[in-house]
Amino acid sequence: MTQDELKQAVAAAAIAYVVDGEIIGVGTGSTANFFIDELARIKHRIKGAVASSEATAARLRGHGITVFDLNDVAAIAVYVDGADEITPAGAMIKGGGAALTREKIVASVAARFVCIADGSKLVDTLGRFPLPVEVLPMARAAVMRKLTALGGQPKLRLKAGSDAGFITDNGGEIIDVAGLSISDPVALEREINQIPGVIAVGLFALRGADVCLLGEGDGVRTLTF
Ligand code: A5P
Repeated sequence: MTQDELKQAVAAAAIAYVVDGEIIGVGTGSTANFFIDELARIKHRIKGAVASSEATAARLRGHGITVFDLNDVAAIAVYVDGADEITPAGAMIKGGGAALTREKIVASVAARFVCIADGSKLVDTLGRFPLPVEVLPMARAAVMRKLTALGGQPKLRLKAGSDAGFITDNGGEIIDVAGLSISDPVALEREINQIPGVIAVGLFALRGADVCLLGEGDGVRTLTF
């Protein structure tokens, strides 16, 4: 199976976790896009969705799915999203698609987090994928120095084909931190959260996944945490 076929398979499997009549939290990225397309087939069964990015909101609306503002929603039954890396304990690195802050907020409201990923995302130790950190632009250099002191090699994410920093949906910038071997994701998430100027870190360990649907050559493996 190709990587896209694996993503498609886990996206289809995630439909079993959708709660009828409820609002669904929807992540961002290529795997989440497959899920949105699957969700469109059963849109009559849900009340609507909360999106973790402008791109996801546009895709949901394009399918005729009602998109709610998080401020108008009291509860989200389930949040479905991809990951850049996930451990056998359900801790993740996310933010390759730059939507980490809204992803973290929507996930924090959801009763259940279902991660959908192809098998290549499962790792024993997080950190081979550079850790994304969203920052206020004026704090960029100061935060980079702190991240260097933590043992990482921070690099500003650039807008494709340009020397300018990539700007997120929230007006933030993204620092990608290479060279970390993250043995204690909860502790590192807390530590980076404390750095002034950090909007959010792409470590999802304090609130990790509850379930991971992992696409492998011989089918979809379900990990529960
Ligand atoms: C978006 O900001 C990310 O957190 C994505 O969930 C993550 O990068 C996985 O993306 P893919 O599904 O495209 O691999």
